[in-house]
Amino acid sequence: MKLDRDRMPEHVAIIMDGNGRWAKGRGVPRLMGHRAGMEAMKKIVDHSDKLGIRHLTVYAFSTENWKRSVEEVSGIFKLLVTFVNRDLRELIENNVKVRILGDYSTIPEDSKKALEKTLRDTENNTGLQFNIALNYGGRDEITRSVRKLARLAADGEISPEEITEDMVSDYLWTGSANADSPDPELIIRTSGEIRLSNFLLWQAAYSEIVISDVLWPDFDEKEYERCIAEYQSRDRRFGGR
Ligand code: IPE
Ligand code: IPE
Ligand code: MG
Repeated sequence: MKLDRDRMPEHVAIIMDGNGRWAKGRGVPRLMGHRAGMEAMKKIVDHSDKLGIRHLTVYAFSTENWKRSVEEVSGIFKLLVTFVNRDLRELIENNVKVRILGDYSTIPEDSKKALEKTLRDTENNTGLQFNIALNYGGRDEITRSVRKLARLAADGEISPEEITEDMVSDYLWTGSANADSPDPELIIRTSGEIRLSNFLLWQAAYSEIVISDVLWPDFDEKEYERCIAEYQSRDRRFGGR
């Protein structure tokens, strides 16, 4: 695949979709799809680093995914912990810095502990920043930012007229007050679905969206590069002519 190394996106965000359909197609339990999805995620983290991408965000669990069965939800969190525990050493060696986008205070206690250890142990790394959107919702995130600014205004720290777009951005999970990632130039969604499902609503204002028909567990380095090549072929105008 011919990729222009000088025009790599700085931030790629991925809606990892299709684990359930992958499992269904094989006649196995949904959780096996999520397990295979974790392996795909691992591959894409490694490959992002190799391609020189600076920030990778993956949508792992949405604020709406709590609607699923208790077994599926707890299974997803267990798998995530397995992933971070198993691969923590390698993440550290590869200089990857892990951040969480979303309020993960409500996830099961053991999962929370494992994640917090990963955050601590990779905190000072300077390579790829790997953001895991967990219990993440775009509307929830904007609401939290607005609440924060309203609090500052109510306390007399700022006046409502002073509020700028940058200030709204700062208090998002990706903002300078939190993970400090730029808006993604590229958003990839797998499994052929063409919607954002409450992902990075504010940050997606001018993102290029690439849809891959591949189900997430089958997503590999080659398909990833195809998506980036498609991004590089786009004419980005930002409202100009
Ligand atoms: C994406 O796969 C993973 C999560 C949402 C946690 P799905 O579980 O949504 O897979 P499909 O859409 O049912 O195939
Ligand atoms: C989006 O996928 C959420 C994640 C990938 C974590 P969903 O499968 O939950 O989205 P919908 O329900 O198809 O919109
Ligand atoms: Mg889905």
